[in-house]
Amino acid sequence: MIFASALFIGHNIVRLETVNSTNDYALKLLTDENPADGTVVTAVQQTQGRGQYGSTWASQAAHNLTLSIILRPKQLPIQRQFALSMVTALAVRSLCQSYHVEAKIKWPNDIYIKRKKTAGILIQNGIMKQQISSSVIGIGLNVNQTDFDPSLPNPTSLSLETGQTYDLEVIQKELLEHFERFYLDLLAASYEVLREQYLVALFQKDVVRSYQRQDGGIFNGIIRSVTIQGKLCMEVDDQIEEIDLKDIKYII
Ligand code: BTN
Repeated sequence: MIFASALFIGHNIVRLETVNSTNDYALKLLTDENPADGTVVTAVQQTQGRGQYGSTWASQAAHNLTLSIILRPKQLPIQRQFALSMVTALAVRSLCQSYHVEAKIKWPNDIYIKRKKTAGILIQNGIMKQQISSSVIGIGLNVNQTDFDPSLPNPTSLSLETGQTYDLEVIQKELLEHFERFYLDLLAASYEVLREQYLVALFQKDVVRSYQRQDGGIFNGIIRSVTIQGKLCMEVDDQIEEIDLKDIKYII
């Protein structure tokens, strides 16, 4: 049996064989019970894995990580909620890097290896009095899956990138340790420390690339930065535009 050596993230783990979605399960735990801060819900198989913007997350049973971390950050103002995205994306990236796999963060929180997605993050926050009172951090990391549904745009996995097979228990334990390390920065309100590391890891930073606006228009831009609130700063025609979530699509 492997015990997590993180201090409180994953100290309590709810291990499920099959569940619709670990995020849904974690949200229900938050409503019905009083799960300890840092409780982690894992599943061997999700039947209705949820993705961003109402999409679905497909993951081959017993091949990947599908887990949700329950947090009660105590003093995180809603204007700083992007810090949760930074922490999570940095944790997944650090895990990949520790296996010598160069991973980048595609704003706001997809993890890319070269030009392919290896992990997705779905964060669902509860808000009380202008603060994040609870957060469910869902992470889907493709680890050992090598066959993907052809309808998925550009999936990859650690295994596809390295040709190795990984022990999911070990990967999970290490991911939680990385997560806790960055989360301690968040708890210390070290948002700038997180942002600096996030910027170093940003996919397509400082290069001219094509993007698509919501109205369908294609334009060339250069990602220059991200604000502490999580807006993307993009240089377009020598001007810096601050771009909101959903305002642009990457063309990959
Ligand atoms: C995305 O669309 O990129 C986000 C995918 C998030 C998937 C994970 S898997 C574990 C957790 N439970 C879910 O239902 N979704 C998240």
